[in-house]
Amino acid sequence: MVLRVCVIFACAPVALSAQTADPSPPIWPQTFHATLFQNRSGNLAIVDLWYDWPGGRNLNLIHSQQDDQGGVNQGPLYDIEWQNGTTYYFRPMMQTCKPIEMGVGILTPDWLNGAKYLGTEIVDLYNCTVWAKANFITYYAEVSHEILRVTILETLATFLNL
Ligand SMILES: *[C@@H]1O[C@H](CO)[C@@H](O)[C@H](O)[C@H]1NC(C)=O
Ligand SMILES: *[C@@H]1O[C@H](CO)[C@@H](O)[C@H](O)[C@H]1NC(C)=O
Ligand SMILES: *[C@@H]1O[C@H](CO)[C@@H](O)[C@H](O)[C@H]1NC(C)=O
Repeated sequence: MVLRVCVIFACAPVALSAQTADPSPPIWPQTFHATLFQNRSGNLAIVDLWYDWPGGRNLNLIHSQQDDQGGVNQGPLYDIEWQNGTTYYFRPMMQTCKPIEMGVGILTPDWLNGAKYLGTEIVDLYNCTVWAKANFITYYAEVSHEILRVTILETLATFLNL
């Protein structure tokens, strides 16, 4: 499974708490909208994520603080991902659209299945369950199972749900 969207944040050490029975990993709703603060090694953006599993599509609308290139503001980037593996990078302001064959579809609602439970940790005052997936994703879910934070490769990218 490839996570195609990255948000980053340096992680505080995870405080583990003893549990008798591990909870089960969060399952994403069939559709949702999340507003995320993305920090990719200091590259900041606000990302609107629209996830649509029945529709087989996922949109990351990336409002970057650093989308200038050669002094030109390129405007927001629409990262549109389809279940058949095709992704489009679409910049309405520049009237450009770049197709990319990713070779994988979008994340399944149960993509956290098999994740390792690491315990609970307080993140921004929320008591979260913490999950490790595929050795490079750390996922923090608030009790209601909302995404609170996703860290990919510890310091590469962090998504914080706003
Ligand atoms: C973004 O992440 C870097 C580490 O990669 C950190 O030094 C910096 O403080 C973060 N910026 C914000 C605004 O969170
Ligand atoms: C995948 O689906 C999208 C949306 O319908 C379409 O634009 C694209 O051409 C499809 N890609 C392939 C490889 O069929
Ligand atoms: C967070 O929630 C867990 C599970 O309900 C609980 O065991 C733990 O004590 C809570 N942590 C704090 C700091 O409240």
